[in-house]
Amino acid sequence: NWNMTNFVNDQIELIRRQVGDRKVLLALSGGVDSSVVAALLLKAIGDNLVCVHVNHGLMRKGESEAVIEIFKNKLNANLVYVDATDRFLDKLAGVADPEQKRKIIGGEFIRVFEEEARKLDGIDFLGQGTIYPDIVESGTKTAKMVKSHHNVGGLPEDLQFELVEPLRQLFKDEVRACGLELGLPYEMVYRQPFPGPGLGVRCLGAITRDRLEAVRESDAILQEEFRLAGLDKKVWQYFTVVPDFKSVGVRDNARSFDWPVIIRAVNTVDAMTATIEPVDWSVLMKITDRILKEVKNVNRVCYDMSPKPNSTIEWE
Ligand code: XMP
Repeated sequence: NWNMTNFVNDQIELIRRQVGDRKVLLALSGGVDSSVVAALLLKAIGDNLVCVHVNHGLMRKGESEAVIEIFKNKLNANLVYVDATDRFLDKLAGVADPEQKRKIIGGEFIRVFEEEARKLDGIDFLGQGTIYPDIVESGTKTAKMVKSHHNVGGLPEDLQFELVEPLRQLFKDEVRACGLELGLPYEMVYRQPFPGPGLGVRCLGAITRDRLEAVRESDAILQEEFRLAGLDKKVWQYFTVVPDFKSVGVRDNARSFDWPVIIRAVNTVDAMTATIEPVDWSVLMKITDRILKEVKNVNRVCYDMSPKPNSTIEWE
């Protein structure tokens, strides 16, 4: 009979049979699919799994630290951490076009991963968090785009590995159940979707470090307050956006000229259409108050009221 415990045990057997005592390389972004596949591979082959976590500098607050804490410190995984922040931000400097930004982030991601792969000896396999909706054409845009940004289909000819994809039969809710079965923390397994280009598409226009920090800090406040209000388990995706224009404000009796923060909170089934979450005013006012007090270079907070269509979920 099919249950998650049997699934995990069967997959461990299958992975061991496929891999033997050879090595598997895995790009571990910290998203649900790559985390679950990492936990499964770790259980099956232990030290013969090599995880590479590339921090592109566009992660949410504390995200890379959480990946290290869980996989390296708690689960003793063989984890290579690459802080490529400067490299990504240098490449992105002055680039305002959203599609161009995506291309740079995706391309740079592959190059960093490739460099790490070349440093490692004796790798025969590549682990991937491919799930069922990625394979069948009905896959949501989110799933497909996540893969196109995080998988390594773009690796050069001489760096092709045999794939290990133990989650390819699972739907998203089953992947989450599998993660819980493997002992991953609830917050990791129930993470909201996060785009491959990360905060890069929420720091509008040409990315600057001050606005990137404003996006990251305001997002962290939003995440915390949504959790306190119980909205984290109810709302599909919620985040902040910082545009590349300033507005006039006043602080300590003096005129200020600073960035606005826009809050976005949406619900959807398949990311093709979306409605906004009618967040209580009291919650929004508390978040606004905290952002204005705690986030540097920000003097205004707005709430995005727009459904998809005509808007998209992200601003870029
Ligand atoms: P839009 O903005 O098109 O977003 O309504 C729909 C869903 O897709 C996510 N998204 C992305 N995910 N790479 C990704 O991995 C991307 O470039 C990207 N752009 C949008 C978005 O967060 C939402 O969940």
